[in-house]
Amino acid sequence: MPETLPVAQPPPPWQNSPFMKAARGEPAELVPIWLMRQAGRYMAEYRAVREKTSFLDLCKNPQLCAEVMLVCVERLGVDAAILFSDLLLILEPLGLDLEFASGEGPVLHNPVREPRDVDRLAELEEIGELEFVMEAVRRTRAGLPEQVPLIGFAGAPFTLAAYAVEGGSSRHYRLVKSLMYRDTGAWDTLMSRLSRAITLYLNAQIDAGVQVVQLFDSWVGCLGVDDYRRHVMPYTRSVIEALEPRAPVIHFAAGNPALLPLLSEAGGSVIGVDWRVRLDDAWRTIGHHKAIQGNLDPVVLLAGPAEIRRQAKEILDQAAGRPGHIFNLGHGVLPQTPVENVIALVDAVHELGSRLPAVD
Ligand code: CP3
Repeated sequence: MPETLPVAQPPPPWQNSPFMKAARGEPAELVPIWLMRQAGRYMAEYRAVREKTSFLDLCKNPQLCAEVMLVCVERLGVDAAILFSDLLLILEPLGLDLEFASGEGPVLHNPVREPRDVDRLAELEEIGELEFVMEAVRRTRAGLPEQVPLIGFAGAPFTLAAYAVEGGSSRHYRLVKSLMYRDTGAWDTLMSRLSRAITLYLNAQIDAGVQVVQLFDSWVGCLGVDDYRRHVMPYTRSVIEALEPRAPVIHFAAGNPALLPLLSEAGGSVIGVDWRVRLDDAWRTIGHHKAIQGNLDPVVLLAGPAEIRRQAKEILDQAAGRPGHIFNLGHGVLPQTPVENVIALVDAVHELGSRLPAVD
């Protein structure tokens, strides 16, 4: 039998989408936009699904997860989809008992409070129990238009540690910080175990078909710069370094712009920033060799279309047409947001951000 030469496959259409170009820092024909929590309670179609299904059951039903995101992408006209799932699901196979109590947000019933509790957390050896997430990736990818990229995600080590220790949302992060200060050995065990689990989980999502991954360090803004450098950065860096290089990484944190230089040093080809810092200042701090994602205040979406357009323009003006800007909010869409305002934002960014003249 003559050997057949491998035929070069053309790149899949999503590889040359405005979102992927921006994620790689390349010039694109328009500024791409997607929104954190773009599928959620503010959307009637989502509420209809949730009337029949609890949030955890929804997350564990790959077909419904895919449908929720596909409907959202089509309705909003955004340039990327994100896997529909939740940050905290990875904690279940580690042995934490997760509940989404209605109206209260997430609760972990057996939190890691004392140094000895850390040993109770299991090592995630294989994807096993989280296979439903990979099936949701495959089904979402299969249902999306080919030019729309799919983002996978996980919580960053600190944010997951904060949930595991606090047992839910927290105001002062007293418990997680005191564990961190009190017992460096237990902290290292906890953060290392979480980091290995996150790496395995994100690489499995990449293998299942996501094009990009976002690490959410939603709660790390409660730390000062020196604590971040000492107690968090090595772990986040170890995750990012161990990820499949074919998927660009968006590294997002909220709450403390003073962390930006270190966040960027920890890794990620795109840095996600919130509204507490101007986008141009943030980009200068990070360096224009990296891409940036952000940074409209989600509360602006509760104002009218004129104010939304004005503030979107301010952000686009700060980005000044540089390649590598992904438009987003600085945090997730709030449940009270009118869906027409979200659509007005997407349309405004597409219109105002199309083929801006490039600077330097
Ligand atoms: O549309 C998307 O962005 C994709 C899905 C997604 C959800 N959660 C769905 C969700 C993503 C990417 C997340 C990430 C997530 N989850 C984060 C990081 C982002 C952030 O907001 O900082 C965090 C901290 C969580 C943990 C979490 N999940 C909280 C604190 C809550 C309760 C608060 C709230 O807004 O309800 C959730 C629930 C949750 N996750 C909902 C959705 C759609 C609402 C559930 C419902 O009542 O239907």
